[in-house]
Formats: sequence, structure tokens, C-alpha cells
Amino acid sequence: MLEDGKIYLGLSKDDPTKKVYLHLPQANRHGLIAGASGTGKTVTMKVLAESFSAAGVPVFLCDVKGDVSGICEKGKDSEGMQKRIDRFGIRETFTYRAYPAVFYDLYGKGGHRIRTTVSDLGPALLARILDLTDVQEGVLEIAFRVADDQGLKILDLKDLRAVLSYVSEHREEYTATYGNVAPQSVGAILRALLPLDKEGGDLFFGEPAFDILDWIRTAEDGRGYVNVLHCVETVRHPRLYAIFLLWMLAELFEVLPEEGDPEKPKLVFFFDEAHLLFSDAPKALLAQIEQTVKLIRSKGVGIYFVTQSPSDIPDTVLAQLSNRVQHALRAYTPAEQKAVRAAAQTFRPNPAFSSEEAIMTLGTGEALVSCLDEKGVPSVVERTAILCPESLMAPASATARRTAQLHSPVGDKYDTPVDRESAYEILTGRAAEKEKEKAEAEKKKAEDAAAKAGEKEKEKKEKEAEKKKKADEKRAEKRRDKIESQLIRAGGSLLSRGLLKILKKL
Ligand SMILES: Nc1ncnc2c1ncn2[C@@H]1O[C@H](COP(=O)(O)OP(=O)(O)O)[C@@H](O)[C@H]1O
Ligand SMILES: [Mg+2]
Repeated sequence: MLEDGKIYLGLSKDDPTKKVYLHLPQANRHGLIAGASGTGKTVTMKVLAESFSAAGVPVFLCDVKGDVSGICEKGKDSEGMQKRIDRFGIRETFTYRAYPAVFYDLYGKGGHRIRTTVSDLGPALLARILDLTDVQEGVLEIAFRVADDQGLKILDLKDLRAVLSYVSEHREEYTATYGNVAPQSVGAILRALLPLDKEGGDLFFGEPAFDILDWIRTAEDGRGYVNVLHCVETVRHPRLYAIFLLWMLAELFEVLPEEGDPEKPKLVFFFDEAHLLFSDAPKALLAQIEQTVKLIRSKGVGIYFVTQSPSDIPDTVLAQLSNRVQHALRAYTPAEQKAVRAAAQTFRPNPAFSSEEAIMTLGTGEALVSCLDEKGVPSVVERTAILCPESLMAPASATARRTAQLHSPVGDKYDTPVDRESAYEILTGRAAEKEKEKAEAEKKKAEDAAAKAGEKEKEKKEKEAEKKKKADEKRAEKRRDKIESQLIRAGGSLLSRGLLKILKKL
């Protein structure tokens, strides 16, 4: 709850007159909400989100179980709530109310679609996500440059695949200008894309590309919008979930100006099930997350990771999460005991209790809290009873969700996917054109060959006719000669016979 420009988070259990605050100017120094299942993490996240919203700061929440959605509906009264209202001394200020919420969903079912283009993500980030080697990353960069030079847009995964195949097929042409493209590297990249396809990467990549500034809006009454990412389905696909987060951080970093030390954050982001981001993450990717978390602070963006145990988060990232809320942890196994000890040691000790013991005995809705004070120094840890939210502590009704979406400030801007002409269409078009040209050339060749064969046949026939004619003529001549000689012979005998007669008469 917002109180005197500070977020009133709860009351100290050891000194009930002591209020525990989170200071708005320190809210971009990031935070952690940890604790076992059912200990109150989601409720704490809601209390914080409501307070930021009331301060005019838009927030972004991941809704893993669907119960965060209740923020768009006013809370329900109960005896327990009445007791809490008195206990926290908020009777004057507490009102059950809904917060201005907008729902999003990477799958487009539980809210507006969020999409981005592969070229917006860029080859470097993509290489890290796909855990490519340096050589493979080099090839990916060449593919992006060739596409750029040829005006081929890489919007979705099929564009990327088409460009990679194209570059591989024409590698001889490009080696001199861009560098070597080994077909094996292209093969490896195409293989690395497969799991992404299976996780529905095709849904995330494409247009209309999401404008991240749409999250940084305030409602008419001045409250910050609560952007809820419905990720019941997405968390089953950790790779996609991680890509989304990275893209978002990179995008925010790119579009937001430097803020220095703002009076209040520009946007606060709560990333639930944060362990999904870090388990199995390649080293280069972890380095990138660490770097982005560090730098984004100066853009006025606060990131709050929500997870079971602080040990789920790499030390380099953990070290940057300054505002901490640690709910109860169980410690049955030696590994769990170690995690509790580690969690306890991150707090500035309070002489009134042992942090380690406290973590194991905290009740639901209670937490160890240490935030940065006005001067940016971590406060002594307090065993804290966390305030209750004004909105509903359960999933929102279908009607409330629909109403929220009807009043969505982005309208239907992102609800219809577009598939405009990009690399895939152009390259498959080109290939079809080539195929057509090839078929035409073949047809012409066949026709020419047929014509040539006809010509030859004609010539052959003519030659044969000539030959026959000549033979006939020869035969005729021979016949004539024969007759002639017969005639001569006959004439000769006649003549000789006549001569004999004449001679006899003489
Ligand atoms: N601060 C609180 N005030 C009142 N009830 C709370 C509070 N924190 C938790 N609870 C109760 O405990 C339940 C579980 O809390 P939840 O935040 O969903 O746990 P987690 O997210 O850690 O699994 C809530 O539904 C609510 O009934
Ligand atoms: Mg929860």
C-alpha cells in the first residue's frame, strides 16, 4: 500500500509499531521474492504491484498459475481480512478494489498476443539462446547480413530457415565478401532451431511486432497499468519463456532513455518461476542476463525475481537484487538446509532473532524483509507480517477478465497475426521462378531436338530418294545399254547375214 510516497509492505513481528517499507527511489535496485510453495509469494507480489500501480508506476507480472489475474477484480471481505485491516492500521486507507489490468499471452489464448521478429531479436542474442559456437554464430551473422543486403526480411523462423539454406546453397558467391559459410555450421544452426519450433517459437516470432512502450502506460485515474502475462502454458516451455524475458530486457534497454536516479521506477517487472530462466541456461546466456540486469537499472526498470529458493538464482545475479522478501523455506534434506543457511546469510542480521531459524518457522503471509533504505543501505532484516491485497486473492472471473480486455489501452492492435512478404516468400518465389525457367528451357531444348530430328529425317529421306533415283537411273541406263548391245548384236547378225547373202549372190 502506498503511504507517504513509500510502499508500506508490512509490520515487524518483533516490534508491531515498526512499519516495513520499500522506497520508490530504490525500487529500480531490483528485488527477490523467495519461499516454498504456498507461503505467500504471489500475494506479496500483488501487494507490491498494487502499490506501484497506485504510485503511477506500470508493472508487468507473470501469471504462472492463473491466480495473479485476480488483480483486475476487487477483493472479497472476510473476518480474517477485517482483522488484518485493523492489525495493519489501514482502516482509513484500505478499499477493496480492482486494478487497471491488461492481459497478454504468448499463445494468444489468455490475452493479447506478444510477438517479435527474428531480426529484432538479432543474431547475437539468438546465438546465445541457441547455444551456438563462435563459428556458428559467425555464420548466423553472415546470414543476417546477406538478408539485409538483399532486402530479405527475417520475420519468423521459416524466414530464418529459408535464408540459412539460401546462404548455404550460394556459399561460393558469398565467401569473398562475407566470409566462409560451412554447410555443417548451417546444419547445426538448423538443428538448434528444432526445439524452438516444438515449443511454439513460431507463435512468438512474427508480426505485428510488439511495441514494448505499450506496457508503460497509466490509466485515466493516474494508476499504472498492471500488465499480466498469462503464462500457464508458456512455463511448460522454459526455452520460450527465457527467450521472451531476454527479448523483453534487451528491448527495454534499447528503447528507454537513461534515467539516472529516478524518483520512482518507469516500469517494474516481476518474473515468476525465475528458476526456469537459469536452469540449463548456457554460460554466455547467463552472462548476458547478468549484464542486462545490471544495466537496466539506469533505465528506471526494476526487476523482481520470484522463485522458491535464492539458490535457484546465480550468485552474480542474486548480488544485484537489493530488495528482498524471503518467505518460509523447508529444510528437510542437507541440500535444503544449506540453501536456508545461504539465504539467511544474505541478510543484514537482526539481534532479535536468528535469520536461519526464522526462515524455517515463518507462517503463511510472513517473510524476512530487507529493503534498501532512503540512503540505499540495506536495512536490518525484519520478521514481517505482509499486508493483504485490495484486489482478489484468487483467479479473476471470466467476466472480470473480459471486462478488463474490453478496456485494454492497446485495443485489438496485436490480436491478428500478419504474414507479409518476407525472406521465406521471396526465396521460395525465386526458387519457383527458377524452377519455371528451368522447365521452360528444358521444354525448348526438347522442341529443338525434335525439330532437328525431323530435319535429319527429312534429309535422310531426300538422300534415300536421290539414291533410289540414281540407282533407278543407273538401272535404266544399264537396261538401255543392254538393249542397245543386243540390238547391235542383233543388227550385226542381220547385217552379217545380209552381207553373206550378198556375198553368196556375188
Ligand atoms: N499477505 C497475506 N495476507 C493474507 N493471506 C495471505 C497472505 N499471503 C498468503 N496468504 C494466503 O496464503 C495463500 C497462498 O499464498 P500464495 O501467495 O499463493 O503462495 P505462493 O505463491 O508462495 O505459492 C493465499 O491464497 C492466501 O490465502
Ligand atoms: Mg504463487
